[in-house]
Amino acid sequence: MNLTRTSACKVNLVLNILGRRTDGFHELETLFLPVPLHDEIEFQPCDSGLHLTCTNPALPTDGSNLVWRAAEAFRTESGIRSGVRMHLRKNLPIAAGIGAGSANAATTLLALNELFGHPLPEDRLDAIAATLGSDVNFFLQPLPALATGRGEQIRPVPAFEILRGSSLLLYRPAFGIATPWAFRELGKHPALLNGANGKAASAADQFAGTDLAAAAGCLFNSLEVPVFSKYPILAEFQVCLREAGAMGTLMSGSGSTTFGLFASPTAAERAAERLRSRHGDRGWLVTVPL
Ligand code: C5P
Repeated sequence: MNLTRTSACKVNLVLNILGRRTDGFHELETLFLPVPLHDEIEFQPCDSGLHLTCTNPALPTDGSNLVWRAAEAFRTESGIRSGVRMHLRKNLPIAAGIGAGSANAATTLLALNELFGHPLPEDRLDAIAATLGSDVNFFLQPLPALATGRGEQIRPVPAFEILRGSSLLLYRPAFGIATPWAFRELGKHPALLNGANGKAASAADQFAGTDLAAAAGCLFNSLEVPVFSKYPILAEFQVCLREAGAMGTLMSGSGSTTFGLFASPTAAERAAERLRSRHGDRGWLVTVPL
């Protein structure tokens, strides 16, 4: 039996860092919004071993790939020794702060569990996800979510009705950003490193309400200041999007993706045109009706 599954991505509507931890990670609170843009992964059982192919030659297909690591962890935890062939159709950018690699890992865990008759209950999948990366747990479920800890403790919230009819614009320029670097840079900004708790929860309340302008006003990311000091062009993208009518703009995760929230798909399309004419068409630029 073959299984093909889509693997989504996210933006962080809020990413508020609360402090450095002794394990090298940072305590944070974040509000994740799932974004319906997808990679696709095919799974096929085989006699033995893990076999991974990928359409993006920039991605390793060995044991360092998150799909591979997720499959390996699944086999270890479930005791299933059957082999699996996996093919990753990579449509989404890497090093972009939209969690596409984390989503690939979560999709792999869910797909293999389905393919082999659900040997692992939800809590075991959750435990494995947390070992693969801080964003992986979020992608085990489909809803927006508040997350705490290092990002792995997920509290899903109902889909934000307020966003219906609105549109996102996502722009990942020609360069990516490594997450560990962005977090390290935060050390130069003690006030941002030790943010006051509560921004993500109050943003979640606003997005659950009816005032989209007020909700858009809650967008916040502690990593913008440190990342913008090396990549000031990212701030310029946001100025451009706001001039084009964005209700709110933000860097997603540790970058390099900038996103804008627009009242309508037409407004997002117009902004995409403006961004393209101002900053060229290198990079990945998409609009997403919500
Ligand atoms: O968990 P993940 O693999 O996404 O983390 C990548 C890197 O980002 C970590 O090694 C760490 O340097 C940084 N990070 C962090 N605090 C978090 C999440 C990630 O410092 N809460």
